[in-house]
Amino acid sequence: MKRVLSGMRPTGRLHLGHLLGALKNWQQFQDEYECLYMVADWHALTTGYADTKDFKQNITDMVVDWLSVGISPEKCTIFQQSRVKEHAELYLLLSIITPIPWLERNPTYKEQIIQLANADLSTHGFLGYPVLQAADILLYKALVVPIGVDQLPHIEMTREIARRFNHFYGNIFPEPHERLTQTPKLPGLDGRKMSKSYGNCIYLSDSMETIAKKVQNMFTDPTRIHVSDPGHPDGCVVYAFHQAFNPQDAETIKTECIEAKRGCRVCKSGMVDILKVVMLKIHERQAELEESPQMIEMILEKGNENAARIAAETMKEVKEIVFGAR
Ligand code: TRP
Ligand code: SF4
Repeated sequence: MKRVLSGMRPTGRLHLGHLLGALKNWQQFQDEYECLYMVADWHALTTGYADTKDFKQNITDMVVDWLSVGISPEKCTIFQQSRVKEHAELYLLLSIITPIPWLERNPTYKEQIIQLANADLSTHGFLGYPVLQAADILLYKALVVPIGVDQLPHIEMTREIARRFNHFYGNIFPEPHERLTQTPKLPGLDGRKMSKSYGNCIYLSDSMETIAKKVQNMFTDPTRIHVSDPGHPDGCVVYAFHQAFNPQDAETIKTECIEAKRGCRVCKSGMVDILKVVMLKIHERQAELEESPQMIEMILEKGNENAARIAAETMKEVKEIVFGAR
């Protein structure tokens, strides 16, 4: 069975954008492939190294959010990168063979340095971010890597690093292929991309009351002052949500809005009802998990063991062909 590996940095609670973007895919893959889903805490450290006080909580929260949307420890391996020491070991080896210019021209690197201007990212570790990611993937010989487009340069570099390794030492690493998660058309409350840094998110951990308030405050068509004014659903956040969560009614809503046969209030309360259904199971699972935080520990421990077994095998093979068999 093909192996899938993906990871997320634990940087805070997940939102509906993550649900439609990555997690839906992850959930689907767990029924088709052997899946490993990784808490990329080493990666989070490369950008957040100066302050680690929230690290542990962020890891727990993220795993709770994964499980709450149906990522299942029965079906896949959920593990923590830093607990499987082979990641660090393979990272060192790959960093030895990776030419620095490959890293310096990485577009994601250049962008992040500008975007995260308040963190000092002129570090060795941050430059090596894609090498660590290559180690994550190659360690498990994963063939499929679900990612968003922003991560594409990292997968391309993983292939290049794999080729370089195979060329020097022998062909042991298969080249992985990305599976692009469709970037969700889901905007944030204000119409910009849903993102923690914009403060425009609906979180998977928001209560239904909070969600209802957020929906009331969503940007709609600003040219629509009276219900009798014809609407422009295409720029409306509520409409985008209907397209995402209520696709079967989206066409009707669009027509009714354009023909001024539908008011924004009705449109919003309809969306709240739909999100109630979406969130019901998620909130139920979250409540269960929050009652037993040891559950998360146990799931990670089991996942770490599982991952470590595969990782150790690969490292053994790697060391044999690099340093000579013993
Ligand atoms: N860099 C990825 C991100 O920020 C997270 C990540 C780390 C990852 N290791 C990975 C994704 C391996 C896929 C495969 O989204
Ligand atoms: Fe948006 Fe609905 Fe109002 Fe039209 S009726 S502008 S789709 S909220």
